[in-house]
Amino acid sequence: MKGKVAVYPGSFDPITFGHLDILHRGLELFDTVIVAIANNIEKKTLFTVQERKELIRGSINKDDKVIVDSFDGLLVDYVKKVDAPFVIRGLRAMSDFEYEFQMASMNRNLNPEMDTLFMMTSKDYFFVSSRTIKEVAAFNGSVAVFVPEVVELSLKEKFSHK
Ligand code: PNS
Repeated sequence: MKGKVAVYPGSFDPITFGHLDILHRGLELFDTVIVAIANNIEKKTLFTVQERKELIRGSINKDDKVIVDSFDGLLVDYVKKVDAPFVIRGLRAMSDFEYEFQMASMNRNLNPEMDTLFMMTSKDYFFVSSRTIKEVAAFNGSVAVFVPEVVELSLKEKFSHK
């Protein structure tokens, strides 16, 4: 990995244009961004880790500056493993703040060398979340303006079997 590296962690279940906005802006600041999918066993996800990886890869033009990976366990351990102390997170609204503040503080407590950078989500996406996207898609609503086509098609496929 070249230059300054940041980790962009999340569930990405599935990736949205809101995530991609943060990723592209992160790439303005860092030489390499690792999109790290948390394999959180407590969280029931619609897409498997492998599917989420493929959706992310299908949503970005092939770019040597972006690495798509997944991790089990604590983010602080993953960040140590890849030797990248900066983490990027998007902030949509005040409601995100408390959770993000707790997480960043806990992570910094566990590893004082780690730092979290927050970027305000663009105004077009501040109300977009993977959760609401799944809910709209589940009831056959259109999510085309919020997610890449590959994600839209996969959501249709998932919910056509339900
Ligand atoms: O997209 P999400 O679900 O908001 O992402 C949350 C995520 C994956 C970044 C967070 O849950 C996480 O880092 N999970 C890994 C486990 C961990 O390190 N937890 C301690 C944070 S207090």
